Amino acid sequence: MTLPSDLHARLDAAADAVRARSSRVPRVALVLGSGLGAYADTLTDAVAIPYDAIPGIPPCHVSGHAGQLVLGEAEGVSVAAMQGRVHLYEGHDPGDVVFGLRLLVHLGADVALVTNAAGGVNPELTPGDLMLITDQLNLTGTSALVGPNDERLGPRFPPMNDAFDPELREIAEEGARALGFELRQGVYAGLLGPAYETPAEVRMLRTLGADSVGMSTVLEVLAARHMGARVLGLSCITNAAAGLAPEAPNHDEVKAVAAQVREHFVALLGAILRRLL
Ligand code: HPA
Repeated sequence: MTLPSDLHARLDAAADAVRARSSRVPRVALVLGSGLGAYADTLTDAVAIPYDAIPGIPPCHVSGHAGQLVLGEAEGVSVAAMQGRVHLYEGHDPGDVVFGLRLLVHLGADVALVTNAAGGVNPELTPGDLMLITDQLNLTGTSALVGPNDERLGPRFPPMNDAFDPELREIAEEGARALGFELRQGVYAGLLGPAYETPAEVRMLRTLGADSVGMSTVLEVLAARHMGARVLGLSCITNAAAGLAPEAPNHDEVKAVAAQVREHFVALLGAILRRLL
């Protein structure tokens, strides 16, 4: 099938493909990072749609990422979860990387809950910590908004003050408090990857004000804000960033630590969603 060239028409075509399988109108778009995808298995009344059945979403090849959209319900809230995401380092255009998230907003989601596995740049962060993202540094060298702007989707020059919605952050903090969890807070730096950073780069990131570092999320946040969705971001700190621990970061460790915090992560997402009702 040849895709229409304009983004709005491509989103309509993708939305039709989703609606052919599920009539659910999602309220929350959930992007699940490395090792965190299992949350989608907890959704009730779930319908899973492989990315390759949705025109416009590139295939997802990274281990730890399933590559399907799961529409369902959690805590009485309609959720569309991306079980696995597409990364810039796979060679996709920035616009293609965020197409899935744009689709979920196009389908009706007004909250984007983006999650990732991240390295701790702030030495006070420990593997296994959950960090509420307060702000971001887009260090990918590009933007999801490069190219012609479609005013039907959002403005040419969207502001990025309060990119991570203060009210949603308050809700996440309340949820964590109610569960008795410590929820750390900090600034997420998103880099292109796919190599992990050098220790010198990690020192640079700390100087720039980063608390955690990863290879995703920042473009999705730009696209969500462009379309007017409110954003909440959570990092699962899976390792100390390069140079801050004797061992170098590795993807197996990232997936393993993310899997270990699964219970906390699932409980926190539940506490957040419940408060969105
Ligand atoms: N650096 C970049 N991305 C990551 C890391 C890291 O240390 N850990 C998990 N994702």
